[in-house]
Amino acid sequence: MAKGLDVGTMNIICADKGDGSISFAQQRNAFLEMESNDLTKHMLDNSKVLYTQRGSNLNVLGEDAFKFSNVFNKHIRRPMKQGIISPDEKDSVPMIKVIIERVLGAPEKKDEVLYVSVPANPVDDQLNVLYHSKTVEALAKKLGYRTFPIDEGLAVVYSELSDSNFTGVGVSIGAGMTNVSVAYMATPIVSFSIARGGDWIDEQVATSTGMAKERITSIKETDFSLGAEYELGSVQGALAVYYDALLTYVLQHLKRKLSETAPPDAEFQVAIAGGSTRAKGFVEMFENRLNEAELPIKISGIKKSRYITPGTRDSRDPLYAIARGCLIAALTKEASLEAEASQSQVAEPVGAEEEE
Ligand SMILES: Nc1ncnc2c1ncn2[C@@H]1O[C@H](COP(=O)(O)OP(=O)(O)OP(=O)(O)O)[C@@H](O)[C@H]1O
Ligand SMILES: [Mg+2]
Repeated sequence: MAKGLDVGTMNIICADKGDGSISFAQQRNAFLEMESNDLTKHMLDNSKVLYTQRGSNLNVLGEDAFKFSNVFNKHIRRPMKQGIISPDEKDSVPMIKVIIERVLGAPEKKDEVLYVSVPANPVDDQLNVLYHSKTVEALAKKLGYRTFPIDEGLAVVYSELSDSNFTGVGVSIGAGMTNVSVAYMATPIVSFSIARGGDWIDEQVATSTGMAKERITSIKETDFSLGAEYELGSVQGALAVYYDALLTYVLQHLKRKLSETAPPDAEFQVAIAGGSTRAKGFVEMFENRLNEAELPIKISGIKKSRYITPGTRDSRDPLYAIARGCLIAALTKEASLEAEASQSQVAEPVGAEEEE
C-alpha cells in the first residue's frame, strides 16, 4: 500500500491506508540532548522511548523530548525552522532521519509509492527550499520507498477538494510556513510559500508583550478565539492582531501571483488546513479577509477540516490534512503505475507476435 508523509517544522506525520480507513502516525519534530548513564539508558529502553546515542550523549526524540524537557527543565531543540531543515542546528538531518524512520516504518513491498510534502518556492525570504526537499526525499528513498515530492498546498487540494474535481485553492498554515497552491483539475497554476506561520505569530506576540514564547503558544492553543473581545494589551488581543496581519499578507501575495497568470474561468473552492487553522473563529476571519482581497478568480466557498475535540485524535483534524493529501496522491500514482504495468504486460505478447 502507498503512504503519505508530511514533514513539518513542528510535526512529522505519516498517513497509511491499511485495511480500509486511513490511520496516522505522528511525532513532534524535536529532540532533547541528555547525558547518558546506565540508569537513564535502562529507563529509556524499558519505556520504548525513541533515542539515539553518540558517545556519552543521548538524544531523546519526538513526543518524548517534550516530556523529558519538563522533567529535567532542559531546552528542546528543533531540526527545522521556517518550514525547512534548520541551518542553525548541526544535528538536524540525523534527527529528522530517525523520526521519519519511526513514523514511516519499512515499506511493505518493494518500491512502495510514497508522496512527501515539500514547501513551494518562497516569495519573501531567500530560503533554501531545494536543499531541504532533496534531503527529505533522499531520506525516504533510503528506507526503500519510491518517493515523489508534492507541494504542501497541492496536498491540501488532494485531501479536501475531490468533490470539486481537485480545482481550488489549498492553503496550509503550519508552524514555520504558509503554503498556497491554486490548482485546476489537480494541476497547480500558482504555488508559493511564505516563511511565516504559527511560530511567527508566537514570536511577534512574545516580542510585543514581553512574555516567553512557549507561554504564548500555550495560550494560543488552549485559551484563544479569533473574533472574541479581548482587553487592549492582552496576549489574546495581540494574537488576533498577528493572525490578521498574517492572513492579509498571505492573501496579498496570492492576489499578486494570480494577477501574473491567466487563471481559467472556473469556480475555485478554498480549502484551509494546517495546525494554525485550528484556532476558533479562524474560518470567519479568513472569509472576511478573502472577501476584502478581491482575488481575480471566482471563489465558490471555504472548506476546512473539522477540529472538534481538542486533545483527541480525529482523522479530519486540519493537522492531518497534508499527510492525507500526500496519501491520496500516492494511491493515485500507485493505481496509474499498476495500470501502466498491466498494459505493458498485455502489449508485450502483441509486440512479440508481430516480430515473428
Ligand atoms: N488549537 C490550536 N490553535 C491555534 N494554533 C494551533 C492549535 N494547535 C496547534 N496550533 C499551531 O499549529 C502549528 C503546527 O501546525 P502543523 O503541524 O500544521 O505545522 P507543521 O506542518 O509542523 O509546520 P510547517 O508546515 O510550517 O513546516 C503550531 O504553530 C501550533 O502552535
Ligand atoms: Mg505543514
